[in-house]
Amino acid sequence: MFKKIHNTHYTHSTDFDFKTLCVLLHKEKYALAIERIKILALDIDLKALLFDQCSYTRNIIINNHSYWLGLLNWDKGATTHIHGHPDRAFVYVIKGRLMCKDFDKNPLTKLRSSTLVDGACQYSNGVKGKMDNYIHQISAIESSLSLHFYSDNPAKGEIFDF
Ligand SMILES: [Fe+2]
Repeated sequence: MFKKIHNTHYTHSTDFDFKTLCVLLHKEKYALAIERIKILALDIDLKALLFDQCSYTRNIIINNHSYWLGLLNWDKGATTHIHGHPDRAFVYVIKGRLMCKDFDKNPLTKLRSSTLVDGACQYSNGVKGKMDNYIHQISAIESSLSLHFYSDNPAKGEIFDF
């Protein structure tokens, strides 16, 4: 059911200031960050993004000891595991339509679901040092592109539906 997720590095050809964007997101200055993301969204080289049928790909922009920033490119129908995140997590839909189901743990229980369309975002500030914050599952209702920021590598997120 779950395909291996492919990672690649996204190289942006213009001088967009990704570091400042990460600092704004880390400081939870979301309104200012979104203004910058809207500018970035106009300029993304879609042909440079990895695409995988029936799955999603991580196109990594920054991955260092402080944070992770990347573009996720979703095929229609692609679904993640039910997974957790580091303390800081931010998702912004650049285009498309993503269904986000939120869960509680102990026992694993679905809390709510929401549909995020172009320009919509979700963010979470959880417990530092844990990888079971903001437990959710994302499914692409249509082919989509989203920007994600985390305070650690999302590949380390706890998985709940092996
Ligand atoms: Fe996630």
